[in-house]
Amino acid sequence: MSDIQNQIVALRAELNKHNHNYYVNNTPEISDFDFDQLMNKLIELEKQNPQFNDPNSPTQRVGSDISNDFTQITHQYPMLSLGNTYNENEISDFHDRVHKSIGDVEYVCELKYDGTSISLNYENGLLKHAVTRGDGEKGDDVTENVKTIKSIPLQLSGNYPDKFEIRGEIVLPHSQFEKINQERIKNEELPFANPRNAASGSLKMKKSSEVAKRGLDCYLYYILGDNLPSTLHTENLEIARSWGFKIPTDYKKCNSLDEINTFISDWDEKRHSLPFEIDGIVIKVNDINIQNELGYTAKSPRWAISYKFQAEEAKAKLLSVSYQVGRTGRITPVANLSPIQLAGTTVQRASLHNADIINELDLHQNDNVWVEKGGEIIPKITRVEIKDRDNSAVKVEYITQCPECGTQLIRPEGEASHFCPNDKGCKPQQKGKIEHFVSRKALNIDSLGEQVVDLLFEEGLVKNIADIYDLNYEKLIGLSKSVSKDGKKVYSFKEKSTQKLLDGIEKSKTIPFSSVLFGIGIKHVGATVAKTLTQKFNNIELLSKATKEELIETDDIGPKVAESITNFFSDEENTDIINRLKENGIQLESEKVEILEGNFTNQSFVVSGTFTNYSRDEVKKIIEENGGKNLSGVSSKTTYLVAGEKTGPSKLSKAEKLGIQIINESEFIALLNK
Ligand code: IVH
Repeated sequence: MSDIQNQIVALRAELNKHNHNYYVNNTPEISDFDFDQLMNKLIELEKQNPQFNDPNSPTQRVGSDISNDFTQITHQYPMLSLGNTYNENEISDFHDRVHKSIGDVEYVCELKYDGTSISLNYENGLLKHAVTRGDGEKGDDVTENVKTIKSIPLQLSGNYPDKFEIRGEIVLPHSQFEKINQERIKNEELPFANPRNAASGSLKMKKSSEVAKRGLDCYLYYILGDNLPSTLHTENLEIARSWGFKIPTDYKKCNSLDEINTFISDWDEKRHSLPFEIDGIVIKVNDINIQNELGYTAKSPRWAISYKFQAEEAKAKLLSVSYQVGRTGRITPVANLSPIQLAGTTVQRASLHNADIINELDLHQNDNVWVEKGGEIIPKITRVEIKDRDNSAVKVEYITQCPECGTQLIRPEGEASHFCPNDKGCKPQQKGKIEHFVSRKALNIDSLGEQVVDLLFEEGLVKNIADIYDLNYEKLIGLSKSVSKDGKKVYSFKEKSTQKLLDGIEKSKTIPFSSVLFGIGIKHVGATVAKTLTQKFNNIELLSKATKEELIETDDIGPKVAESITNFFSDEENTDIINRLKENGIQLESEKVEILEGNFTNQSFVVSGTFTNYSRDEVKKIIEENGGKNLSGVSSKTTYLVAGEKTGPSKLSKAEKLGIQIINESEFIALLNK
């Protein structure tokens, strides 16, 4: 090996070790800063020496921007589910069945992780495929996304079998779940109902670079293969830990029903202090030979069963319903409750989502309601205790006018929510739009926090996003506002804070077009849609003139988004604001990206099937790096269909029908090197 190659290999090993210490063992040995330094060094070396690239390098964990299309893979061993039990009697029945056919056995009790199950296939110590459960027979190939999960080893160490499969659960820790939902609520996107949905949604995202940001984790609890090291489940897992996997430590070997029940009741309490969600306990027979003897029913093993915890619920009194108005005018009804203890926290509010939910519950004022907190962070009302209701109780009627500005509410077709249409004159909408514009993912003016926006708005200095750029030293200095209820804490613009804000505003003029477009706050245009749009429409003029049809032709843009965009630009007040932003030097066009001149300039490709030398994503990357474009489906615009093994038959027949050139892997390589 050359010196450079040695250096690259050593850096990869060192970074892998630190990843493992941090994400698997929770015992970091170096600071984040030092880790980043090492990573940057490796990134630089790999960039300069592409001949040593390795898809399993720790640099590849950041994911890529290329759209995943998930192909299906048949599981070598079907992914079965477990029979559920809900009480001690049902567990005792399970034990009796096992005892009758085998006699005394050792059980293992494990936590039942509430996430999304995954099957990882390793060959010669390398992660080959990561496949979702799917229908149990075949699942989606989500390898590229799974590679971004840092607790999953891409390369094993120690003495592992050549070929094996390990299964487990991908989970989203509570802290990440809350962070993602807060961000979604801020962007007026629907929050995930629970960490399980958030985990499975994240795993199926189109871009692995987005998955990398989600903070997923993975616990492994089941290993399959021909040459496993032991005939005991627990021993296999302990050995797999030494290969680099994150294997749970919270399991217990149990030899009696009593021990099993104690484990269950202990964890029913303790589960609330875990950093992730569990929804029960899994009880397994430890000896694999006995497992095989007990066998399987059509759906589940006879050697294991799950016990599901009851969702915690408590009764509370409905004190009132209040209505919040968001940045886009969306109304969110909230139930204010008498304080109750639930899943370890005090609950005083529950989301009611929309008018239909209130009607379905048949909510009346002063009702006693049952509140449940399952995997959900925001508790929900599951039912009303009708027998506690007074005859004279009045039904909760949904408001018809905006609680902030009095405008008649509307409910657009196909929407579950009501909206206040007074977007230019309704205070929380006006302020919300300004707060969104200056937020971190948009124009990132961090000294314009909520309190300051409030102050500038109330003073009449900033009524819309363009007004920010009319602020100057004279207008700001000396402005003040009390920021606590007792009026004691006061925010005031002194010399330093004034200058800091003006500097922040100046700096925002360098923020790229896609973040500005996101910041402008067009309904349904989130950060990802904004990025897609600015890739297709290089400046705001082109976007503002785009027809609905042209917009819909863009990847991932549907009729609802298209309509919202054309509506936005047909409003004169909006175009005035855009013009003022432009006059002030805000970036409203894409940076001139260096158009890659390569063998594939002006050519469009559809890549399908599997390849010998590259993964499908690597083929797509090569196309983009050489100036070509990737399309998801075959159409008259396609130049080549790159057909690997198992190419979809519909793609092939469509390409043949349209006379599109079909090339195989070696023809593709020849084309690249021409
Ligand atoms: S063992 C043959 N162990 O629960 C079944 N599953 O309904 C092997 N799960 O699909 C599964 N924690 O997604 C097993 N400690 C654990 C688990 C667990 C969660 C999930 C898994 C499975 C479902 C069963």
